[in-house]
Amino acid sequence: MEYFKINGGNKLNGSIRLHGAKNSVLPLLAASLLIKGESVIHNCPRLSDVDNTVKILRHLGAEVRREGSTLIVNTACVNKYDIPEVLMREMRSSIIFLGALLSVMKKARLSVPGGCEIGLRPIDLHIKGLRDLGYVIEFKDGNICASGENKGSNDIYLSYPSVGATENLILASVFLKGKTRIINAAREPEICDLCDYLTGAGAKVYGAGSTVIEIEGVNSLHETEHTVIPDRILASTLMCATAVTGGNVRLEGVKLGDLSPVLSAFCETGCKLYAGDRTLTVKAPKRIRSIKSIKTGPYPDFPTDSQAMFSAMLTVANGVSVINETVFENRFRHIRELERFGAEVTIHDRCAVIRGVKTLCGAKASCTDLRGGAAVVIAALAANGVSEINNIYHIDRGYECFETQLSRLGAAVTRIKDEKEKQGNKKTYTESERRVQSA
Ligand code: UD1
Repeated sequence: MEYFKINGGNKLNGSIRLHGAKNSVLPLLAASLLIKGESVIHNCPRLSDVDNTVKILRHLGAEVRREGSTLIVNTACVNKYDIPEVLMREMRSSIIFLGALLSVMKKARLSVPGGCEIGLRPIDLHIKGLRDLGYVIEFKDGNICASGENKGSNDIYLSYPSVGATENLILASVFLKGKTRIINAAREPEICDLCDYLTGAGAKVYGAGSTVIEIEGVNSLHETEHTVIPDRILASTLMCATAVTGGNVRLEGVKLGDLSPVLSAFCETGCKLYAGDRTLTVKAPKRIRSIKSIKTGPYPDFPTDSQAMFSAMLTVANGVSVINETVFENRFRHIRELERFGAEVTIHDRCAVIRGVKTLCGAKASCTDLRGGAAVVIAALAANGVSEINNIYHIDRGYECFETQLSRLGAAVTRIKDEKEKQGNKKTYTESERRVQSA
């Protein structure tokens, strides 16, 4: 089992380029099924979630090859419509293939995704929306079996602007006759990225980024080339890491508008922010101030995906901060891990009250989930002394070579692979170090 050894206290300094957004790449790869021939997608980070999505595409018959950070998907030989449980269970977001397969193969069979570390994660809105579009969906032996042929379009109302359901419904509507409207659609930047990709391939999708998305059916999509938007959640992670170490870091390749929900909260910490041409520089004070109140919600509210990293940052702020998590019911599991470093937090249902302490102490802690893992790393960067962070496979789902990125900024983070290396006997290169060296 790999783990991170972190010697805390180093100030982060320097520049770093953001990689492509994990939450965009996965739906884009699923959407490539709708495109006849080759799709070229630039700025695809090397993440285990991306690898798993590629495995699904290959299982379905697509050819996928990587050239640096570009993925090239050729769908000419796609001939399957089922996704086995072993591939589905790796990633809950693979439910996005349901809409894509219905569009292309007119049927789909995939196993029902379960809950995960952050909550129950039901898919009722996906199913209801697809049924409203006229697709037939049944549950058999733990599988979702769906079919539909030449169904007409419709108006679909989402009772909550679910990101995944919006993406599934867009994908399922691209080839439907007439106009489909998704009302109360999610407005996240990743939805806009998906719609840009589809329109670049000839789809007629209007209104992305607003609460009503309209799709006019077309007969086919053509080959296209697209660049994935920068990862706004990685940006907020690096901002929090800079803030807790009193650092000075310039983020490159930033889409400032996508960060606005985070920036308005972050300003309260007393960090200085300087915006440039697709850059954002964060200059942290010696000790940051608390943030009175953060409430997560659908975009443009504060992103639930940034909540864990903000809560880690606020454990060392001067004053009391309150975080209200409204999106997922079980997204404070990392708090117990932060307490190992000496953080003072009380949780009341979906509300965390964080009393900032002056210093954290190095500790042995675990990643509870992807963003919870990033939060624990942030605590370790802030702490005095050495920390050991386990279950880092969660982090590899969403951060490309996280330890290398942080080390370039001056952090003392090492990925340790085996017992020998733990004892400092021999330097062996990890998979992620090898990737960086060969990039
Ligand atoms: C969520 C985030 C998204 C983030 C992604 C990856 C929100 C609104 N969504 O998207 O920004 O990029 O995680 O971590 O912040 N729900 C239902 N029934 C459904 C679908 C969802 O009740 O069929 C509920 C969920 O339980 C949750 C809420 O709706 O409470 C938001 O879910 P949704 O937006 O679908 O989640 P993701 O697509 O995973």
